[in-house]
Amino acid sequence: MALDFEEILKEKVLSAEQTVRGYLPEEEGFQKTVLKAMNYSVEAGGKRLRPIFMREAFLLYGGKGALVEPFMAAMEMIHTYSLVHDDLPAMDNDIYRRGRYTTWKVYGEAMGVLAGDGLLNYAYETALRAFDMATPAEYEAVVRAMKILTQKAGVYGMIGGQTVDVEAEGNNSVLSMDELLFIHEKKTAALIQAGLMVGAALAGADEQGLDAMERLGMNVGLAFQIQDDILDVIGDSKVLGKEVGSDAKNEKVTYVTLRGLEESKRQVELLSEEAVEILKQIPGDSLFLEELIYSLIHREK
Ligand code: IPE
Ligand code: IPE
Ligand code: MG
Ligand code: MG
Ligand code: MG
Repeated sequence: MALDFEEILKEKVLSAEQTVRGYLPEEEGFQKTVLKAMNYSVEAGGKRLRPIFMREAFLLYGGKGALVEPFMAAMEMIHTYSLVHDDLPAMDNDIYRRGRYTTWKVYGEAMGVLAGDGLLNYAYETALRAFDMATPAEYEAVVRAMKILTQKAGVYGMIGGQTVDVEAEGNNSVLSMDELLFIHEKKTAALIQAGLMVGAALAGADEQGLDAMERLGMNVGLAFQIQDDILDVIGDSKVLGKEVGSDAKNEKVTYVTLRGLEESKRQVELLSEEAVEILKQIPGDSLFLEELIYSLIHREK
């Protein structure tokens, strides 16, 4: 079974990869530097988890056809922009990402800012292409998906979390567990929720379905960020493709600094088990998603 899962995952990553790449802009015109910088960061790779979650949720709720594909590409563009900006000197000041120099390190800070802006805007240009392929009966689903994607990426979602994250860093910041959970929910869970909820919305899921995907994404996202905090302490930078010790360098309060490594690991397990419980309540075949969530508990990258 374990081998099967790995094989299936490989295929799904490859397929998500092809979908995302198919929507990247051509590197041409007087502005080609920004286009190159945008593609550089997306083409560097990454686990492609958010588009994979999106397609799986789409399938779970009975979605068919290619309507989800522009949204998968948009999802990965938004996630990648969040990383490009997260790595800037003004934010986490990191020089490695996805096994390469960060975008700003290669293209300079100004182009790092613009590449992030470009990816965010191009994400919406790309997602809106879904209207070109939708039947009139599907328009409403596309509008719902757009609303979810834009809100989860915005000031009440990912950007909100990044705001509190950067404000909290530094020597004397004492953070409560509630504040840290706010940061984790917004900066990380929000985009994972977006992936799952957009997939479900495009398949025509009802409010109850969207709510289930939101709760699932919350658990998966919180577990994901705690594991990210753990790997920043005990991970291997070669495997991770980014430097370890970034949080300590920036004097960040993390789950690990608040609760220690052992308790953090326990939380990742607990949250993931709860996530699988949520999935089991949903009719349909969610075996791959369950295995994916379990596999993330012990991820090393
Ligand atoms: C990194 O996300 C940023 C966090 C939210 C922790 P991923 O670990 O999914 O990064 P990639 O896409 O695989 O590079
Ligand atoms: C980043 O959290 C989350 C977002 C980019 C929105 P981190 O700063 O911990 O992510 P890494 O460790 O640099 O990937
Ligand atoms: Mg950060
Ligand atoms: Mg960072
Ligand atoms: Mg981190």
